[in-house]
Amino acid sequence: MFRREDGYHELRTIYQTISLHDRLRVSALDSAIEITCDDPRVPCDETNLAHKAATLLREATSQTKGARIEIEKRIPVAGGLGGGSSNAAVVLLALKRLWQLDIAYPDIVELAMRLGSDVPFFLMGGTALGIGRGEEVYPLEEVEETHLLIVNPGFAVPTADAYARLSRLTRVEAPRIIPFTLIAAKGIRELPLAASNDFEEVVSAAYPKIAELKRRLVGLGARNASMTGSGATVFGVFDKLESSEHAQSEMASAGYWSHCARTMNREEYQKTIFD
Ligand code: C5P
Repeated sequence: MFRREDGYHELRTIYQTISLHDRLRVSALDSAIEITCDDPRVPCDETNLAHKAATLLREATSQTKGARIEIEKRIPVAGGLGGGSSNAAVVLLALKRLWQLDIAYPDIVELAMRLGSDVPFFLMGGTALGIGRGEEVYPLEEVEETHLLIVNPGFAVPTADAYARLSRLTRVEAPRIIPFTLIAAKGIRELPLAASNDFEEVVSAAYPKIAELKRRLVGLGARNASMTGSGATVFGVFDKLESSEHAQSEMASAGYWSHCARTMNREEYQKTIFD
């Protein structure tokens, strides 16, 4: 990663969709954009990324219809899992359909980029390489893992803070690292989801609980454990269902939110966006 002139960090990352998901119900309203959410920690005003997505789409297509967006939140909030970003991407697709908009896919991608660096990925799903500020996504050969355990320590790490903590940045001429990223991407097929996360060291230094959770996951039999995105959620990759379920009950007894999940490939992801 290196810091760019626009203040963002140029990054090389691997994205993966998993089965853990929120549920959104989108219905027509005359003119207002209304958000409701069953999790009181989620703001339902204009600061909600789903609200921003609806407003941006409406402006871009110069129309005035409204929508109610009900969010059933299951993805930990501000957990480094892209929960808000995935909501925003899906709102763009759902409202295109509800409002019967004649907007081309590249224009939807453009709006997604404006909403957040990782929003375009959630239009695609599966295993993907993210470059630029994370908004440029390329499909990779799919990784398949069936026994993941996602654990959230119960505190949030603001994304901008995590980036600000990155002291050991790659030099500016780093586009040369792309081939290495591709080798790393190939590597994750051989040792799935064992890729390292540059955020981990700096974020764990400030939040030791993250390293502790990783150690516990490995102690409970995870083949690999890592932090997701800018934290603070961690995941463990297990070989057997029994081990991931046992780890889940241990994490639950210790008071942590945890969820058994599996990777979800592009085809399945795109099919389940509208169910
Ligand atoms: O693009 P998004 O709104 O998700 O980014 C949130 C914040 O994370 C940005 O304001 C920026 O501080 C930081 N960021 C960054 N480099 C990136 C992506 C995000 O510095 N590639």
